[in-house]
Amino acid sequence: MSAPFRAPKGLAGVSVADSAIAKSEPDGTLVYRGYAIEELAEHAGFEETAYLVLNGRLPRREELRAFEEGLAAQMPLPEKVLEIMSGLPKGSHPLDVMMTATSALGSLEESRTHAEQMESVEAKMGPLAANCQRLPSGQAPVRPKRGVGFAAGLLQTLTGQEHTELEAWVFERVLMFYVEHDLNASSFTVRVVASTLADPFAAATAGIASLSGPLHGGANEAAMRMLLELKDPGAAAPFVAKEFAAGRKVTGFGHRVYKKFDPRARLCKGYLGELLRAKGDDGLLRLCDALETEMWKRKEIPPNLDFYAAPIFYTLGIPIPLYTPVFAASRVFGWMAHYAEQVADNRIIRPDATYTGPTGLKYVKIGER
Ligand code: COA
Repeated sequence: MSAPFRAPKGLAGVSVADSAIAKSEPDGTLVYRGYAIEELAEHAGFEETAYLVLNGRLPRREELRAFEEGLAAQMPLPEKVLEIMSGLPKGSHPLDVMMTATSALGSLEESRTHAEQMESVEAKMGPLAANCQRLPSGQAPVRPKRGVGFAAGLLQTLTGQEHTELEAWVFERVLMFYVEHDLNASSFTVRVVASTLADPFAAATAGIASLSGPLHGGANEAAMRMLLELKDPGAAAPFVAKEFAAGRKVTGFGHRVYKKFDPRARLCKGYLGELLRAKGDDGLLRLCDALETEMWKRKEIPPNLDFYAAPIFYTLGIPIPLYTPVFAASRVFGWMAHYAEQVADNRIIRPDATYTGPTGLKYVKIGER
């Protein structure tokens, strides 16, 4: 057998699958099924975008209605899941609660077909995000309002507040940017799990686990904590200098693909400006801008979506520990698109590793070691 091909660390620059779902490019473009995200942000809504990502084309009116009704019908969380979530320790990280609940749904809905399970997990992840902090804290569950749309309903249940049209519109855009991003770490994880023919709940649970780390989805929560700690634009330069001197990465900056700019971050920066101007205080934007300038001066590293999604969520009143659950509630649609694409042309994903350990060792009895 010939020596296996040695892939670079982190699989950087290696194509491991054919995919027709989405494509991000180093020059700052991102398309979903052929449509630039700028085009979708201007004209489409969340459900239309999710349908597009899942089905490969924009829905006709009656298809969109059926999709929305299907999601609404699947949203209620079973009592048993609410009980499991309520039984977790107060102070559990909401994303851990969400992971446990998604896994539990897998056993409760084991007998359903994979297509039914996919629709169920897509619909339920929003209500899970809205309840994953409340229930372990002993609060009553919240249920999404019927007939207000996925994004507006989720925002209302996350915050318990009414929002202006602009606020709901911006939140919907952020969800649309989170919905899909070709072979990011969590979507790759989902494809690995799907390739074993495990069910959609198992794949989504693994997707959440992969998303939780600060190098991936956890970055939005970490970015907000950093911004709150820094407070003042004047703190940006010394902070960046300190992080570089310590060899630490600055949260919310950098991307495997985008080297000039992240198109989602660029759009979100504009939306943040609009939100803050409507509130009459753009201090948070000035702080973001100062960090952005400093990171570019030092190493030409642009901000990513998480960097600007975080202050948008903060301005909308979403509790900080719910930022990554919100990401998951949107990305689950992309995960399911990858799940379906993987199983449609499957071969188990089972790479090789270059063995660097010892060989030929002789067993030594336990008392003689
Ligand atoms: N802060 C400081 N330096 C950074 C950086 C950051 N956030 N992101 C990348 N760099 C540096 C790297 O250290 C590397 O420097 P070197 O060539 O001198 O070693 C260089 O920029 C290139 O990094 P790259 O290979 O592009 O990173 P990656 O593809 O392995 O990792 C991320 C990409 C996103 C994991 C990484 O940028 C990161 O950890 N960012 C912070 C976490 C974050 O915001 N995650 C959300 C991503 S959407």
